[in-house]
Amino acid sequence: MLSKKMTDALNEQVNREMYSAYLYMAMSAHSESKGLKGFANWFMVQYHEEMSHAMKIYHYIHEQGAEVSLKAIAEPSSDFKSVLDMFEKTLAHEQFITKSINDLVDLAMAEKDHATTIFLQWYVTEQIEEEANDHEIIDKLKMIGDSPHGLFMVDSHLASRKFTPPASEG
Ligand code: FEO
Repeated sequence: MLSKKMTDALNEQVNREMYSAYLYMAMSAHSESKGLKGFANWFMVQYHEEMSHAMKIYHYIHEQGAEVSLKAIAEPSSDFKSVLDMFEKTLAHEQFITKSINDLVDLAMAEKDHATTIFLQWYVTEQIEEEANDHEIIDKLKMIGDSPHGLFMVDSHLASRKFTPPASEG
């Protein structure tokens, strides 16, 4: 059973994951418009990942017999100066999401809600991977600087990313 406070906080997280999906869709669209198909693919895979993060919480709220309540999704930025700018904004956003997940864990622990504490562990681990992925790509982009050849190579590399739905998604 979820408290009202925990239910509200989880519903807020559904909205944040949906916003994340929307933000990465905007980045995918921007990449596509610049002819960067690999970057467009990477961000579209990220869009699918974020939707699956939202749906996992959606199913959990239902499993616990609580109510899902959907809120408006904010308009994402479409002002990106470069691919490096997009990834720096991605990392900053993921750091915000990590904090948001940590706050949820703090709340679940304060409420002695063991089920939700365990449920959230998946997200704690996922955030480590999300931030590490962003750091790795930012390092590559800094390494290539203004080199068009380097950009072509990174774009080709990012074209191979595929979406794999999380096994535990209900
Ligand atoms: Fe669902 Fe990228 O955090």
